[in-house]
Amino acid sequence: MKSLIQQAIVFVCFTTLAYGLQNGLARTPPMGWLSWERFRCNTDCDNHPDSCISENLYMAMADRLVEDGYRDAGYEYVNIDDCWSNKTRDENGNLNPDSKRFPSGMKALADYMHKKGLKLGIYGDFGSKTCAGYPGSLNYLEKDANRFAEWGIDMFKMDGCNVDISLMKKGYPEMGQYLNATGRPILFSCSWPDYERGKGIPVDYQSVASHCNIWRNFVDIQDSWDSVLKIIDYQANITDQWGPVVGPGNFSDPDMLIIGDYSLSVSQSQAQMAMWAILAAPLLMSNDLRTISPEFREILLNKEVIQVNQDPLGIMGKRVLQIGKVQVWMKTLQSYEYAVAFLNEDDYGMPKNVTVQMGSLGIATGIYDVQDIFINKDFMDFSTDDKFSILVPPEGCRLLHLYPSELRHGRF
Ligand SMILES: *[C@@H]1O[C@H](CO)[C@@H](O)[C@H](O)[C@H]1NC(C)=O
Ligand SMILES: *[C@@H]1O[C@H](CO)[C@@H](O)[C@H](O)[C@H]1NC(C)=O
Ligand SMILES: *[C@@H]1O[C@H](CO)[C@@H](O)[C@H](O)[C@H]1NC(C)=O
Ligand SMILES: *[C@@H]1O[C@H](CO)[C@@H](O)[C@H](O)[C@H]1NC(C)=O
Repeated sequence: MKSLIQQAIVFVCFTTLAYGLQNGLARTPPMGWLSWERFRCNTDCDNHPDSCISENLYMAMADRLVEDGYRDAGYEYVNIDDCWSNKTRDENGNLNPDSKRFPSGMKALADYMHKKGLKLGIYGDFGSKTCAGYPGSLNYLEKDANRFAEWGIDMFKMDGCNVDISLMKKGYPEMGQYLNATGRPILFSCSWPDYERGKGIPVDYQSVASHCNIWRNFVDIQDSWDSVLKIIDYQANITDQWGPVVGPGNFSDPDMLIIGDYSLSVSQSQAQMAMWAILAAPLLMSNDLRTISPEFREILLNKEVIQVNQDPLGIMGKRVLQIGKVQVWMKTLQSYEYAVAFLNEDDYGMPKNVTVQMGSLGIATGIYDVQDIFINKDFMDFSTDDKFSILVPPEGCRLLHLYPSELRHGRF
C-alpha cells in the first residue's frame, strides 16, 4: 500500500516536472537560412562590408528569399548565429546587438522580416560565453528570453560552449519554460544532446524531444562532401534512438544545407537535399543567395524534394539496405506513400546499377506509381514484387516518391 502511494507521488511529481515545450511550432521541419557555415564570425565590416555579420547581411538574404522564390517554397526563417552581440552586457545586464553592425537594432530587424512574411532567429549560449566569446546566458536565461520576445524573435538556437555539460539536462528545459512564459511562440533549437554525445554522457532522447523543437545531434557541418557523408553515416547509426521521438513539433537537426557553397557538385548537392528530406531534417541553408548559381537554386527549390521533407507525418527515414557502396534509405509518408533514396558513396566514374525488390525495403506490398524526383521521370503500375533497377550516379543520389496506383488522382 505504502509503495503504491509512493509510486503515486513519484508519478505526480514526474508528470508536473515533465512539462514540455507546447508552443505549436515546427509541425513540419523548419526551413530557412542561417549564417554560420558560410559567414562564420566575420565582424570586419570595414574590409568586408557585404559579408560581415551585420543587419545588412540578414536584410540582403531576406530580400533574396522573397524575390527568388525561396520564401514561397517554405524557407521562412532568417537566422542570426554567433557574433551578433556587444561584447558586454549593458548596465542592466541586458544583451544588445553590436551597435556598429546592427545600427537599427534587433526590433527593427525583426520588423523588417515580419513585413516580408519572414521570421527572425537568433543565437545564444547556455554557458558563460558563446563559442566565439560573446556573452552567454548562464544566470541570465529568463532575462534573455524576455529580451528576445521583446524584440520579436521567432527562433532561438542555444549553443553549449563554456559550461558544465551536466547542467544541460536541467538548464535547457528551464530555458524552454522561460521562452514559453514570454507568451511569444519562439522555436527552440537545442545543442544540448550534441554536447552530451561529445562527452559520452547518456542522452535522454524523450526529454530532449519534449523540451526542444529541434536539436543538434552531431558535429558542425563543414564545406565538404566528406562532412556530409560522415553526418549521414551518423544519422544512420542513431535512427533507432532518435527516430521514435521525431515527429511534428520535434525534429533532429543534422545541421545546415551547404548547397551552393564552394565544395559540393550538383550531384552531391542533390544527395544532401534528398537525404535531409528523408531524415525529416530542418532545411536551413547556409550559402550566399546573392551569388548562388541557378543549378543549385533549382535543387533548393525543388518542390518534390521539399514535399518529402515536409511530409505531415514527420517521420525520420532510415537506412534499410546497403549494396556495396550504395545505401538505400526509406521514409514512410502520409496517404500510404513512401520515399526511397539510393545514395552512392563511390567516386568510380560510372553510375552504379543496383537492383532491389521494393517489397524488401519495408514498403507495403502493392502497386505503385513511382516519381523519380531529380530525373523528372515517372513509372506507372510498379509492383513491389518486381525487380527494380536503377542507375545511381557517383557521389550522388536518386530519390523516388512512391504513390499507391489505386489512389491515383490524376497526378500522373
Ligand atoms: C506555453 O505552454 C502551454 C502549455 O504548457 C501552451 O498551452 C502555450 O501555448 C505555450 N505558450 C507559448 C507561447 O509557447
Ligand atoms: C557596447 O556596450 C557598451 C556598454 O553598454 C557601450 O558603451 C558600447 O558603445 C557598445 N559597443 C558597441 C559596438 O555596440
Ligand atoms: C557508425 O557506426 C559504425 C559501426 O559501428 C562506425 O564504424 C562508424 O564510425 C559510425 N559512424 C559515425 C559517424 O559515428
Ligand atoms: C514532441 O514534443 C511534445 C512536447 O512539445 C511532446 O508532448 C511529444 O511527446 C513529443 N513527441 C515525441 C514523439 O516525443
